[in-house]
Amino acid sequence: MRLILYVTLLSGLCGRGHNLPTMTNETPTDPYIFTTDLLPLDPRFLPPLANGLLGWRVYCDIMHMGGLYNGEGGECHRANLPSPLAVRMEIEEDETAGPVQHSYSLDTHTGIFTHSLRTANVMASQLLYAHRHHPNLLVMEVLLVRQGTSQEPIRVKLDSRFKPRSDDVVFQSEPQYKGGSYIHGQTITPEVPGDVCPAVHLIWTPIPTALSLLADQTQSRWGFVVTVAGDKESAQAHYDTGLELMANGNLRPTHLRAWEELWAGSKLELIGPEEFSRALIGCMFYLLSAFPSLHEVPGHFGGVSPGGLSNGGSGQDYWGHVFWDQDIWMYPSIGLFYPQLARTVLEYRVRTLNGAKHNAEKQGYKGLKFPWESAVSGREVCPEDIYGQQEIHINGDVTLAFQHYLYLTQDLSMFTEGRGSEVIWGVADYWVSRVTWSPEEQSYLILGVMPPDEYYHNVNNSVYTNTVAKISLAFAVELASLLNYPAPKEWKQIADKIKIPFDQEHNYHPEYDGYKKGQFVKQADTVMLGYPLGLAMPPKVRRNDLEFYEAVTDPSGPAMTWGMFAVGWLELGEVERAQNLLKKSFKNIQGPFQVWSESSDGSGAVNFLTGMGGFLQAVLFGYTGFRVQKDCLAFAPLFPDDISQLCIRGISYLGNKMDWLFRGQEVHIILREGAKHAGSTKPCALQVVLKNSGTKIPLISGKPVTFPREPGLICKVDGDLRYWPM
Ligand SMILES: *[C@@H]1O[C@H](CO)[C@@H](O)[C@H](O)[C@H]1NC(C)=O
Repeated sequence: MRLILYVTLLSGLCGRGHNLPTMTNETPTDPYIFTTDLLPLDPRFLPPLANGLLGWRVYCDIMHMGGLYNGEGGECHRANLPSPLAVRMEIEEDETAGPVQHSYSLDTHTGIFTHSLRTANVMASQLLYAHRHHPNLLVMEVLLVRQGTSQEPIRVKLDSRFKPRSDDVVFQSEPQYKGGSYIHGQTITPEVPGDVCPAVHLIWTPIPTALSLLADQTQSRWGFVVTVAGDKESAQAHYDTGLELMANGNLRPTHLRAWEELWAGSKLELIGPEEFSRALIGCMFYLLSAFPSLHEVPGHFGGVSPGGLSNGGSGQDYWGHVFWDQDIWMYPSIGLFYPQLARTVLEYRVRTLNGAKHNAEKQGYKGLKFPWESAVSGREVCPEDIYGQQEIHINGDVTLAFQHYLYLTQDLSMFTEGRGSEVIWGVADYWVSRVTWSPEEQSYLILGVMPPDEYYHNVNNSVYTNTVAKISLAFAVELASLLNYPAPKEWKQIADKIKIPFDQEHNYHPEYDGYKKGQFVKQADTVMLGYPLGLAMPPKVRRNDLEFYEAVTDPSGPAMTWGMFAVGWLELGEVERAQNLLKKSFKNIQGPFQVWSESSDGSGAVNFLTGMGGFLQAVLFGYTGFRVQKDCLAFAPLFPDDISQLCIRGISYLGNKMDWLFRGQEVHIILREGAKHAGSTKPCALQVVLKNSGTKIPLISGKPVTFPREPGLICKVDGDLRYWPM
């Protein structure tokens, strides 16, 4: 496959003196546009549209707002809101007009879904989008263009499934607001007994049952906006904005610009198998759709759940709860591009501190215990007790996201002003109270847990759990010294002496004490010690872990697993083996709109962002070898031969933004000019250091550098001290 868009892309990247790939004469298909004549039969695989605050699936009669749940504790689930945009455009087939041709497309450049229908007399288009710049707005546009020479009036029906009712919200009507229909209400049951039920206000342009071109009209266009907000003032203000943007023709342009900007700052493309290229674009698109706007970060970003905002009502897609999926599986790929979006994830966790404190107390421990399943309060909302009780690795998963944020940005304000340090200290205190000292083993143990591999519970010393606890304690010590905080001595003691189970005979890490080599496992667990946890181990041990667990991992387990195996095999230079595992993920991609299902047979949560996160990491961290480390961003590129080029635009590191191109045996990097970032006053001066030769190459804004494809790292130029003194 050859794509026109790469040529512009690469010419921007590689600058002068490089041979650009030659274009073929065939008209290339744009991998960013997912098109079909036939919608998927299973409505779960219709395109989900979201913008970090609002989300729905096209044609579906419900929508959701981030952070809006109904139900107490384990019953709490995303509140279903009625969607005024649950409208299908139809036309009556009449004899003169002949057959009707339908086409449906999701353009991921722009996040716009379009249904087009064409007869001999009319071309009709219905556009749907979740506004990327103004997250409280959802939009429908309809355009009718007369075809041929007929002068007859033309009528297109709008078939609506909308009913202004919900099982989760008691609505009442208000008088119209500036021509818009207006309802508001409160959820029925609060997450925590005694708390106030959150309110929701909906204002929308009424949608008629039909639209027409009059006898003398050649074309016409209509716009409809829906606003959803938590109170009257903001619902009205957003509706005003929508009307104003529509009146001055800026509704769609502002949306398009926001997507353009988002893609310009985070692009992942390859020249290689078309299926692969499209899958990557789909993953980036849906993941970006789950995060807030770069401009209007909602005050209360509700976190990212495995199925995203479009899914997750009562009994579905994990009820829309937030899991480690957010911090471990989705966050790394977003954090690498957008520190400000990464920070919204951290701030979501900070807002749940009180709930986490409550959970720890309830378990009889100190500090903070983040819930296995989280909604708004941070109290445990998992419907079954055992996960919240035992799957405590979540605590270390949360702190790892904070640690990587600091390493990628050196933005201490998250910890000094942003209450991030309370998260780190609180989790460290939890581990201190949760471990048991074993005089026989001369180590600290963590007893009675459920590992990430949920086929087992009540085990001792889950190797993943203990390793992530070790890392979060060591990070607490490191951060304490940066902030001159008096760290309790136990933090370091336990970090140094926590048990990491190891089997000397077979030279590998058993999943927990008493795990027998060959026991079936649900998903990636022990293989995550190498990546993302970065536990140092000899290559032979890494290989054994991968080999032993690959053989016994449930083939019908959740989608994210294979990405982690792929990263591991790439570390060992086994590119073919990595690729074969990664390819298994394609079975989880359902239908023309690249929607992911949790299981490969189409069952489980959709649109499974966790699986996409695993897949993206296999490329973003696997093919590149990127590792976020304390003093550097390491790399070690390796990818299959059928990928001739890999281009990653917008990597953020220490206040800089970089574009990377891997081509043949060469790597090109260009540091963007004038990058500016949340939390950093000025970008650090950076250099490339190649591992084998020790060659140092300074990175200068706007000047591309090229070097052979070999391992190395990006770090500060000597003497550029950056952690500001406290
Ligand atoms: C875990 O350790 C405790 C305390 O040593 C012991 O009583 C228990 O049997 C162990 N559990 C398993 C599953 O080995």
